[in-house]
Amino acid sequence: MIREVPPGWTGEERRRRPRAPYPEADESDAVLKDGRAVHLRPIRWGDAPQLLQLYTRLSNESLYFRFFAVPQPDPSKAEYLAHVDYQNQYALVAEDESGVVAVARFHRDAGQPDRAEVAFTVADDMQGKGLGGILFARLASLALARGVKVFDAEVLKENEKMIRIFASAGLNTTVSSDGDRLHYAITLQPAAPAAPLREGAPRGPLPPEVPLPPAPAGGKTAQRRRRRRPRVARRRRATPRRPKRR
Ligand SMILES: CC(C)(COP(=O)(O)OP(=O)(O)OC[C@H]1O[C@@H](n2cnc3c(N)ncnc32)[C@H](O)[C@@H]1OP(=O)(O)O)[C@@H](O)C(=O)NCCC(=O)NCCS
Repeated sequence: MIREVPPGWTGEERRRRPRAPYPEADESDAVLKDGRAVHLRPIRWGDAPQLLQLYTRLSNESLYFRFFAVPQPDPSKAEYLAHVDYQNQYALVAEDESGVVAVARFHRDAGQPDRAEVAFTVADDMQGKGLGGILFARLASLALARGVKVFDAEVLKENEKMIRIFASAGLNTTVSSDGDRLHYAITLQPAAPAAPLREGAPRGPLPPEVPLPPAPAGGKTAQRRRRRRPRVARRRRATPRRPKRR
């Protein structure tokens, strides 16, 4: 139940249960591509209003990519999504000085406890800075520590950023297609590359039915080319010149 509140959930039952201890050791910091720092921490039960604020700020496209619908702000859904037990449901938030700017979560499959469904949300103005990839890598390592071996994800076919994150992880992945959706099953490995190493990580295959646009100008390849040129020039200058004949 990563998109919908389970039928009958009112929050009362969960509120009556003893609160799961907050896993403080899971907190960490990360630096985005633009140099901005974010703090990553497990969600707290009191974060529902911050979650609601994050979802309220999302564009319709982002809402649609996350929930496959454009839902109205729903405090009870935010309440449900904030109440995790850190074992079977886990949510990791990223925050900066403005508050919560992203959330990534896994919900374990009750029938197959070594599998979990995952979902990611990054505020529109924070997208494309590497945060989604960082959250994926961190969530994978937290899930592995709790015995989850496979991440399952439903992704709309036009969701290029999410698809690129899964492909870039370089993990053993199966993809099946169903209408406008792709189902991903990603096998986690203890040596899953940490986010700062992602640039050099092996690239996994992209599903054939998802045509991706060419890399944007000024992307990594162009940057690498630009970086190589000065080295060649320096080498040429370093070649000793022949003495001139007189
Ligand atoms: C999908 C989402 C979580 C990705 O997070 P993000 O922080 O934007 O992602 P990143 O910055 O880590 O970029 C991910 C990849 O997309 C690429 N990318 C960045 N901007 C892009 C753009 N405008 N178009 C296509 N690809 C783009 C990046 O280069 C990166 O690819 P790489 O891993 O091969 O380098 C985020 O965009 C989001 O919350 N979207 C709305 C909700 C959603 O779609 N959730 C997923 C449902 S499970």
